Amino acid sequence: MVAFPTETVYGLGANALDANALERIYLAKERPSSDPIIAHIANLAQLRSLAVDIPEHIVAPLADHFWPGALTLVLKRAPHVPANIATGLNTIAVRMPAHPVARALILASGVPIAAPSANTFTRPSATTAQHVLEDLQDRVDIVLDGGETAIGLESTVLDLTNPQTPIILRPGGVLIDELRHILPNVQLAPRYLKTDEATSSPGQMLKHYSPRAKIKLFTGPLYSVLLAMKETAQGHIRRGEKVGLLIATEDCHHLSDYGIIQSLGKRDDLKAISHNLFAGMRQLDSQKVNVILTRDFGRAGLGAALWDRLLRASEGRVIDVQ
Ligand code: TXA
Ligand code: MG
Repeated sequence: MVAFPTETVYGLGANALDANALERIYLAKERPSSDPIIAHIANLAQLRSLAVDIPEHIVAPLADHFWPGALTLVLKRAPHVPANIATGLNTIAVRMPAHPVARALILASGVPIAAPSANTFTRPSATTAQHVLEDLQDRVDIVLDGGETAIGLESTVLDLTNPQTPIILRPGGVLIDELRHILPNVQLAPRYLKTDEATSSPGQMLKHYSPRAKIKLFTGPLYSVLLAMKETAQGHIRRGEKVGLLIATEDCHHLSDYGIIQSLGKRDDLKAISHNLFAGMRQLDSQKVNVILTRDFGRAGLGAALWDRLLRASEGRVIDVQ
C-alpha cells in the first residue's frame, strides 16, 4: 500500500486488480465497504483493460481534453476487475492523474492503481505527505512525498454509464462549464440541484471531509455574513470555547478579534482557496479549536466544489443570513 501525490489530493494506492489489496485499503481508511474506489491509469490501454462498452464518441474527446487531469469517468466495469473496487456495482471509476509521481508509480507497478483519498474516513483529504502520516502513519507501507498538491480538492466524478445523460456525481477540479463545452447536456446529480439542501436536516448530511472541530457554514450577503460570524464567535467565546475562522484574506481585519484566523486566500481567488481548504481545516484542528466558522465562496467555477466540501464538512450546519 503506497500513498502518493496526485494533482488533486494524495491517494492511498494499491493494485486495482487484486481484491485483497483493495480490502486492505478499506481497512486502512476505515472506509465503509459501500463507498467505491477510483482506479488510476497512466495510458488509454489501461482504460480499455478496466472498462467495457466504452462510449467512445464521448470518452475520446473527454480524455483528449481533460486527461491527464482532475476528471474521473464512471464506466461499465470489465468482468475480470475485482468487484470490491466498486462495492459490487457493475461500474468502475477511472482517472488518469497528471502528477509525475503518480504516473511514475502506475508505470512502475505495471497495473492500474486503486486509490481513495489518503485520509481516514470522514477526515479532510490529505494535500501533503504530512497529512497522510497524521491519519495513516501505521497503516501505510510507503508514502511518496511530492510536496503540496496543486489543486487541493478532489477530481470531478462524471457518470457515463448512461451515455445519453452524463451526470456529475461530485463537482471537483474540472469545472462544470469546461465539461459543457464537450458535453452540452451534462447535468449535476439531483442532490446538488435541490435548493433546500442547505436547510435540510443536518443529521441527514453525510459527514465527510471534516476536521475534529464542528464547522458552521455561513451564507448570504457578505456584510451580513461577517456580522453573523462575529456574533456567533462571541457566543462561543463566552461559553469558554476556542473559535477558528476559515476565511478569505479580505475578511481577516473584520474578524481579527474573534478567534484564530486561518486565511485561505483572496476572496476571488478560488484556486488559492481550494488549494488551502483542507490544509486550513487541519491547521485549525492542530490548534485545538472547538468550532470553525467559515463561509460560502459562491457557486461559480471552483465554487461548486468548494460549497460541496464545506456543506459536507459542516454536516449541513448552514447559517443562512439572507
Ligand atoms: O481526486 C480524486 O478523485 C482523489 C485522487 C486520489 O484521485 N481520489 C478521491 O477518491 O477523491 P475518494 O475515494 O475519496 O472519492 C472517490 C469518489 C467517491 O465519491 C466515490 O463514491 C466515487 O468517487 N466513485 C468511485 N467509484 C465509483 C463508481 N463505480 N460509481 C460511482 N461513483 C464512484
Ligand atoms: Mg475521499
